[in-house]
Amino acid sequence: MPYNMGEYYERVSDYDLEYKGQSEQDVPFWLELVMRYTPERVLELACGSGRIGMELLRGPGSFELEGLDISPEMLEAYRRKLEREDEAVQQRVTLHEGDMCDYELVNKGAFDLVILPFNSIVHLYEIEQQIEAFRTTYEHLAPGGRFVVDVFVPDIDYLSDALNHPSHVYVEDEIEAPDEFTMLLYTSRKYDPVEQLEHILWTHEKFFESGEHERYLTRLDMHIFFPRELQLLFLTAGFSIDAIYGGYDWKPFGKGTRQIVVGRKRA
Ligand SMILES: C[S@@+](CC[C@H](N)C(=O)[O-])C[C@H]1O[C@@H](n2cnc3c(N)ncnc32)[C@H](O)[C@@H]1O
Repeated sequence: MPYNMGEYYERVSDYDLEYKGQSEQDVPFWLELVMRYTPERVLELACGSGRIGMELLRGPGSFELEGLDISPEMLEAYRRKLEREDEAVQQRVTLHEGDMCDYELVNKGAFDLVILPFNSIVHLYEIEQQIEAFRTTYEHLAPGGRFVVDVFVPDIDYLSDALNHPSHVYVEDEIEAPDEFTMLLYTSRKYDPVEQLEHILWTHEKFFESGEHERYLTRLDMHIFFPRELQLLFLTAGFSIDAIYGGYDWKPFGKGTRQIVVGRKRA
């Protein structure tokens, strides 16, 4: 089955603008995580345009950071951000264009922390892809290394409302790019319960200061991960589960809206 995703991540400046607010929520969590685990070599899967990676580099620790993403546009934006940093920071980072289901890095077996933040796991659509991504990641970790995945807990009411047909148009956000434009974001969603796929149609509508107007539509498919399913993936790949948090405030799992699973490779 062909899945929709690419185009949504091609308009990187809009992506960065849209998820600026998200950084206030999740970046402190990742900074704290790095302080707790004090890794020497970190890999961020589906690193995007460096929204999290850039903040990790500015934070505590002097670990080497690698990022892997399938989108050349996202990686190009990440590289442009890195160019504005000191040479010493640039030297700590290596970016790779690749698929998280099928990657082989020079430092395989030497990462003590691999992270898959902000729902990016939803782009692992087929069971085979999911198992491959978890097995490959297990192999890339050093003994005792950790794999941390962050994804939302599915909202059953929301999904049942969108069962097999879109029922609402949601206004997701209104974003200001000062002196340039106001951007309105809408979605409509359809949920396929057999494939556990949420098909989202995004509308981005920009009202420029100049009076011009632009609208574009993109499709984005997400695999919906139920909690036991995600835990099974960790266990299938050989991980033990160290911890599960329910939110970026380190809430216990089940008390929040997220499932942040910390898997550990046996030492
Ligand atoms: C929600 S964005 C997250 C980006 C970044 N981690 C952040 O938090 O802003 C999802 C990212 O996953 C990437 N992606 C999707 N499928 C992928 C795959 N199979 N392998 C690697 N990256 C993938 C997309 O290109 C996109 O950059």
